[in-house]
Amino acid sequence: MNKFSRIGFILAAAGSAVGLGNVWKFPYITGEYGGGAFVIMYLLAIIFIGLGVFIAESLMGQHAEANVSTSFVKMSKSGNPKWKYAGFMILSGLIILSFYSVVLGWILNYVISSFSTLPTETSQAGATFTNLTKDIGTQLFYHTLIAGTVVFIVLKGIKDGIEKINLILMPLLAMILFGLLIYSISLDSFSKAMSFMFIPDWSKINSSALLAALGQAFFTLSLATGVILTYSASLPKNANFIKTSISVAFIDTLVALVSGIIIFTFLFEAGAPSSAGPGLVFISLPVIFSGWGILGQIIAISFFIALVFAGITSAVSMIEPSLMFFIERFKMTRKKATIITGTTFYLFGIIALLSMSDSWGATLTFFGKNAFDWMDFITSSILMPLAAIVTCVFIGFYVDKKLLENKFTQHTSLLVFNIWYTLVKYIVPVAVTILFINKLGLI
Ligand code: PHE
Repeated sequence: MNKFSRIGFILAAAGSAVGLGNVWKFPYITGEYGGGAFVIMYLLAIIFIGLGVFIAESLMGQHAEANVSTSFVKMSKSGNPKWKYAGFMILSGLIILSFYSVVLGWILNYVISSFSTLPTETSQAGATFTNLTKDIGTQLFYHTLIAGTVVFIVLKGIKDGIEKINLILMPLLAMILFGLLIYSISLDSFSKAMSFMFIPDWSKINSSALLAALGQAFFTLSLATGVILTYSASLPKNANFIKTSISVAFIDTLVALVSGIIIFTFLFEAGAPSSAGPGLVFISLPVIFSGWGILGQIIAISFFIALVFAGITSAVSMIEPSLMFFIERFKMTRKKATIITGTTFYLFGIIALLSMSDSWGATLTFFGKNAFDWMDFITSSILMPLAAIVTCVFIGFYVDKKLLENKFTQHTSLLVFNIWYTLVKYIVPVAVTILFINKLGLI
């Protein structure tokens, strides 16, 4: 089988984890929830919840060396074939990819348009962004470009496609972010941004901030979609899956924090509000960059390119669980499986973008939510929490404890195993169940 190298795995898994969730979403939700206290909640959620599940998925993948569905059956104590239904979680990757590709298309459009002119006023920037999200032709063009790129990379396979693209794009991403960080350190507002992000104001924390931190920890680590499990099936057998998991979680968290520091420094430097929500990157930042002349233009272009790179390496990971499933379950060639999954997410992406337009909006809106928002809701509020609960309950109650213990003690102490086991068996499922019920609006 075509395996990653150990470092190739870390880069690919970090490439999957580091995405729009880090550079776009983390800063704007941190802004919405008032900074420092939210950052602490987020860090706790990563360490105690996210990392535990990450290690669980990685252990399963490395041990079973199979697609998600088969891995559950193989790992279960009884070998009960019903566990194959746990494979439902691979759907999330394809659904997320449908709208993620559209959003990446917007960003690619911003890269191109940053070469000409940047909006000088927030109202103008807001109008440009809204027009883009309603413009069928432009979105279709960029969505096609992104989807084509993703399919092209994935067709080449784990080693020549996914490992290679991460080997190129991840260092480039790190370089751009590092450059932007150095520039923000040179600005007066850097210290203000640091205080905003790291000095907690506990009055800002409520239960919805807590749940947002938990949901973000799952999304940013690419958990509960089968991605980490599937990538781990190509992790060398003797690699220390605990160490690789910690490395990936560390890189992912570092990128989120650095992105936050850069963006808040820029916002404070311009006196812009930190709580602009999803439009933060698409509306507030371009206006700030336009005030900095040619330097601002260079920063704008680099920033949006960094976002595209981060997003592409996540996008290629979302399709892999379905690919591996089709290849193993139906004995398909990689090419055929890629064509089927690629066409599926491409078409769903078109539905997502049409649902925001004036001409199709009404037709593609159901129960007050358009198709784009439904895809987000179904994955982040239903499928992913369910998948997380299923995975933890499975590990805690349906897998031979001795097997897990052996896998752990090859690399670490029994104490570490016991902490992890307790977290995954009891703490995580309870926390995620609360999140789940809350997201569905039941409490
Ligand atoms: N982790 C990616 C991000 O932060 C998104 C993602 C979710 C990737 C689920 C794969 C699976 O943008």
